[in-house]
Amino acid sequence: MFNLILFGPPGSGKGTQSEKLIAKYGFKHLSTGDILRSEIANQTILGLEAKSYMDQGQLVPDAVVIGMVDAALNANKGVNGFLFDGFPRTKAQAIALDELLQTHNTSINLVLALDVPEDELIKRMVHRAKTSGRSDDADENVQQKRISVYKNETLAVAEHYDQFGKVETLNGLGEIDEIFSGICAAVEAKS
Ligand code: AP5
Ligand code: MG
Repeated sequence: MFNLILFGPPGSGKGTQSEKLIAKYGFKHLSTGDILRSEIANQTILGLEAKSYMDQGQLVPDAVVIGMVDAALNANKGVNGFLFDGFPRTKAQAIALDELLQTHNTSINLVLALDVPEDELIKRMVHRAKTSGRSDDADENVQQKRISVYKNETLAVAEHYDQFGKVETLNGLGEIDEIFSGICAAVEAKS
């Protein structure tokens, strides 16, 4: 079993590269953002609660997200490995994930951090807003908020895994296929 965290700021290409990784290696994709958006689309209680945070670019409370991931791990026993996209996003989520994986007799093998300059992140979100329908892409203040939340709360996740030597940083700027080749090389070197 190989468990990968694809890490990076909003707009760094986690979702884009996840799709390609799933197609190539058969990981089970676990994107907390996608799960939350589907809860919103289905107008569940969880979705209604999450929407107010997401629309402001703030994080949904740890307990909610950790509960979702716990359920997803239990519902997908026997897969080749998980690809975590947009999770963990706080140090508390990282510690909870490590503990959950331990109960499944597995652990994180690799954290791949996509490095993209801030002006490019904004450019990508502005561009995507035209088609995504994502309310958190459309507003400039929300874009900035998501980036500052990343710096203040999420960078701690990379620090957490760095102490175990699990983090590799890759350039996330340039052609999608070129970035993907670098990701594949890093995955295969650790497999
Ligand atoms: P989430 O859905 O996780 O969004 P995000 O982290 O803000 O990241 P994005 O999905 O915006 O970007 P991405 O890195 O996936 O990039 P993409 O491939 O799409 O979270 C949304 C919200 O949900 C959070 O703000 C929070 O409220 C909540 N949430 C989610 N998880 C949570 C958690 N664990 N805890 C608490 N709250 C949570 O690419 C972006 C764009 O760029 C696309 O248009 C793409 O086509 C384009 N692109 C990609 N690669 C390239 C390239 N190389 N060159 C040019 N363009 C590119
Ligand atoms: Mg995404």
